[in-house]
Amino acid sequence: MQTKSYAKINLGLQIIGRRNDGYHNIETIFHRIDLFDEIILDRSPSLSLHCDDPIIPTDEKNLCWQAAEVFGKETGITEGISITIKKRIPSGAGLGGGSSNAAATLLALQKLFSVTIERARLESLALTLGSDVPYFLQYGTAYGEGRGERLSYFPLPMPYRIALINPGIHVSTPWAYGALAARLGGQFPKRPNLREIFSSSADITKLRNDFEETVFERYPEIASIKKTMLERGAVHALMSGSGSSVFGLFEREADARSAMDIYAGKYFTHYTGPEFLPEHA
Ligand code: C5P
Repeated sequence: MQTKSYAKINLGLQIIGRRNDGYHNIETIFHRIDLFDEIILDRSPSLSLHCDDPIIPTDEKNLCWQAAEVFGKETGITEGISITIKKRIPSGAGLGGGSSNAAATLLALQKLFSVTIERARLESLALTLGSDVPYFLQYGTAYGEGRGERLSYFPLPMPYRIALINPGIHVSTPWAYGALAARLGGQFPKRPNLREIFSSSADITKLRNDFEETVFERYPEIASIKKTMLERGAVHALMSGSGSSVFGLFEREADARSAMDIYAGKYFTHYTGPEFLPEHA
């Protein structure tokens, strides 16, 4: 069984505050882009994992491995599974690659073994694998609240061409949360919520990412990519998640491509057209 596992960008990201469980409450808009890994699952005598990217762990540290274990425990299916990941989504990049892989594995294993895990249960199992995993159980654009698991999907007409650039810097998400909290002295400012900002204007270019200042200070190259996107005509450019990917929203494909051309051969670049819709598995 073969399935596509798409990447996301965060069209905006606000951090509301720290929770008692050590996580943070956030508000974001998750949006899929036309960049995907391929995952191939087969029945096998034991659990095994292969990936064409040597930096990806192929043991229990891999979220697909963990998803397979969670699936086995939940369903009582003890048969092994061989998992092959053809990796295209840069990792540690704010694109949700590992989370998307985990969700795709949970969905595909149900098909492979002809079992259905009830939806609410599947969402809570997904959340045990990571805060962003529940979002990837369904296609589309969604507001994410709580840790990112309280989801409201909504249709978003995307009028822009999306240029994505990843400089290959691995930003640690726990570090980004900790550094931002330290910068703010633990006091996250109260602001209009992201949903209100967006629903009053429906203007993606009004959305911000709270991690930017903190991450840009430590990794100036990421800030420089954002600046380049804007100089090349982006109507808006933003870091995705806790970085290090930056996306630019362009009216014209030629401008999006010219921003990407500056980094061609040096960094990972990717283009998503306005007509993109993820292919259903
Ligand atoms: O849930 P996930 O494993 O992706 O989170 C990685 C780390 O990011 C957490 O251990 C936590 O430090 C931080 N995090 C957070 N609040 C969130 C999501 C992640 O503090 N909503």
